[in-house]
Amino acid sequence: SGIVTILARALREETLSPGEIGALLAAGPRDRPALFAAADEMRRRHVGDDVHLRGIIEFSNYCRNNCLYCGLRRENRRVKRYRMEPVEITDAARQAVNMGFKTIVLQSGEDPYYNGDVLARIVSEIKELDAAVTLSVGDRRREEYELWRRAGADRYLLKHETADPELFARLRPGTTLSQRLKRLYWLRELGYQVGSGNMVGLPGQTTEILAADLLLLKELDVEMAGIGPFIPHPETPLGKCPPGDWQLSLKVLAVARLLLPKAHLPATTALGTVHPRGREMGLKCGANVVMPDATPLQYRAHYQIYPGKAGLEADTRRILAELHKMIHSLGRRVAADYGHTPKWENII
Ligand code: 5AD
Ligand code: SF4
Repeated sequence: SGIVTILARALREETLSPGEIGALLAAGPRDRPALFAAADEMRRRHVGDDVHLRGIIEFSNYCRNNCLYCGLRRENRRVKRYRMEPVEITDAARQAVNMGFKTIVLQSGEDPYYNGDVLARIVSEIKELDAAVTLSVGDRRREEYELWRRAGADRYLLKHETADPELFARLRPGTTLSQRLKRLYWLRELGYQVGSGNMVGLPGQTTEILAADLLLLKELDVEMAGIGPFIPHPETPLGKCPPGDWQLSLKVLAVARLLLPKAHLPATTALGTVHPRGREMGLKCGANVVMPDATPLQYRAHYQIYPGKAGLEADTRRILAELHKMIHSLGRRVAADYGHTPKWENII
């Protein structure tokens, strides 16, 4: 069929047209296994069998934004808001590094309480622990991004969320896609390894928009891309919308691997939330990263971007032991290095 031809071209690493990307995203049950196998082959060829574990510390759930899809939106009064003190953040990072994490991801809502200097100090303290640092704190001033990069931050995650400008503006009131993209270019200029990504199954999203998401990730030539299903949160305006489909999410992930052979692609927590074996399936459809929650237990339940988030009860060591087992059962191994972008590997 057409899909077989397109996959053969993808595996020869020829450029796919938007129409071909759309055809892959529309693959039915008979064609899906071939798509997933092609993505798995591309993953093995370009990034190998290593799975990178990134310990994520969600250090504040305050957010000045009001995104329609997110449980942390400022108008959600039912959230018990918390902010971790800088020393709590660095303590949590130290524990995560002692458990073996080689990357610490610092994530929060858009919380101006942590100004440029405060976050810069936290970054440099964590860098002294001998770990790579990824920041994911949203839209900030260029000067702040620059300060944090100088403090040692290696990577920055800023999802474009949706490549459709109208949908973006509707879902993220007061912000625009072009502002978001401008920031992604700043981060690139500042020498960050840049991560972006989008949700799958947003209300109003079409296959064309998903193809545009993938083409945008390719255009940005991102070092990382987080792709996961939309999950409705009852205390938001989208609370009654259906969740994103896990099979469609796997297809988007697989096509992302075909288009971005050397990108780091997480099997997202959202994927693990809509299906009990979601992360495992993600690792077989192109993903090579898992980001376990390393937030102190007393705060974890309050970081409810969406409901039902996997891994809320168990302590991080237990989650890690189970992940190691799962990864080995797939014939893969846990990476021992920092997991910087493999794009740099042959550049001396
Ligand atoms: N469902 C799935 N993912 C969500 N995110 C935010 N809200 C939701 C939701 N309801 C994702 C966004 C954001 C990241 C922190 O979580 O992609 O960038
Ligand atoms: Fe804030 Fe991010 Fe949630 Fe939007 S998605 S409300 S910016 S935490």
